[in-house]
Amino acid sequence: MNELDTEIMAGQLVKKGLTPVHDEESADLLIFNTCSIRDLAERKVMGKLGLLGRAAKKHSIIGVTGCMAMAKKDTLFRKFPHLDFVLGTNNITDLEAIVDEILYTNRQIHKTDDRFEENLDYLIAKRDNQVKAHVSIIRGCDKYCTYCVVPYTRGEEVSRSPDSIVDECKRLADTGYKEVTLLGQNVNSYGKDRPDWGCLFHDLLARIDRETDIKRVRFMTSHPIDITPELMQAVRDLPSLCEFVHFPLQAGSSRILKKMHRIYTREQYFEKVAMLRQIVPNVSLGTDIIVGFPTETDEEFEETYAAMQELRFSIAFIYAYSARKGTPAKRWKDDIPEEVKQERLQRLLDLQAQIGKEERQKFLDTTVEVLIERFNKDGKMLKGRTRCWKKVILEGDASLIGTLQPVQVHSFHHETLLGKIPQSNDLLKIV
Ligand code: 5AD
Ligand code: SF4
Repeated sequence: MNELDTEIMAGQLVKKGLTPVHDEESADLLIFNTCSIRDLAERKVMGKLGLLGRAAKKHSIIGVTGCMAMAKKDTLFRKFPHLDFVLGTNNITDLEAIVDEILYTNRQIHKTDDRFEENLDYLIAKRDNQVKAHVSIIRGCDKYCTYCVVPYTRGEEVSRSPDSIVDECKRLADTGYKEVTLLGQNVNSYGKDRPDWGCLFHDLLARIDRETDIKRVRFMTSHPIDITPELMQAVRDLPSLCEFVHFPLQAGSSRILKKMHRIYTREQYFEKVAMLRQIVPNVSLGTDIIVGFPTETDEEFEETYAAMQELRFSIAFIYAYSARKGTPAKRWKDDIPEEVKQERLQRLLDLQAQIGKEERQKFLDTTVEVLIERFNKDGKMLKGRTRCWKKVILEGDASLIGTLQPVQVHSFHHETLLGKIPQSNDLLKIV
């Protein structure tokens, strides 16, 4: 969501006549679009803002946007007097006006509305990637997990109108985009705040599939409680919808899940995964896990370990619990020592690495559909992804960028599959 917001802000500034530069020394305007999800993300920005204060080229305008602008709205100007503006997650539409105001008045400006009003010009986004795009469908979160700062930094759920989303997807397809990722803190809540639209998440997916030429649709991210049978059937039935579902477990113990206010038990989560795998046998699952939540015992951690062993996610983002100001969990003692958190984190990372390796073995000598996105960092090989989000590297030229290709996997290196586009006689064999 932050990346998309950055693209929208960049688009607004380019429209205004500004030119992007690639080094901060020559920039007249520096904007830090920040994240507050864990302490480390905030510390990085605080460190950087401090450095700029000491070394600052005094004539550049410096602003903070994103979640930190909300979480630290009362202290940022006090700590960093050289800041020119603080603009909240729900105010990015005001950026142009604020830059003007600073230029004319030279005053510090602070704007942080609690609620998002759907008035953004999404079509202005300045995207670097020409093949796949992020599309915002709902902002905010009403779930209030006890560890999470998002409901406070992004406010309540506000869905974007289906016509506006479908229109953006159509325009993206017309300009050559092949893939969209529909974004929201909880995409499955889509449309629930607007019963008058009669369009829930699975209805929206059906409309995008039916009415646009987008070849691949993904979504990010979901709350397990709202993953409905209708959504599972959509993953099975809609040709454009990729067979990859991010399904954040967070913890394997029902007691910890309750304390996290995740509103499902371990058993209910397992049942949902079983149902999804029954309806979509070739689905890949991703997950998020937090270790070291307050009061998590060794036995409860082992339940998370065992759940990951059993469920075999194709990708897992694993984090050590980080107490966030303003959340209910912050009021409880952060009682798991840092070494224990790190040890648990490492054990899950090792387990996931082992599972990942075993899963990648299964791809050897198979043919997968790859959307070729760009040249790899080395500038020689092409890079793309399968429908289930596996990264693939292959040989080929620039004309293949933006196309869907069958790729035979012959080996892998770390997380990446290596393959080649079969010759026509190889293809015959596969068919
Ligand atoms: N500490 C650690 N991880 C967190 N996440 C959210 N809040 C915290 C926190 N306070 C993780 C969750 C979420 C992902 C985006 O970040 O796993 O799904
Ligand atoms: Fe945070 Fe996700 Fe829970 Fe919302 S559903 S509070 S964004 S972890």
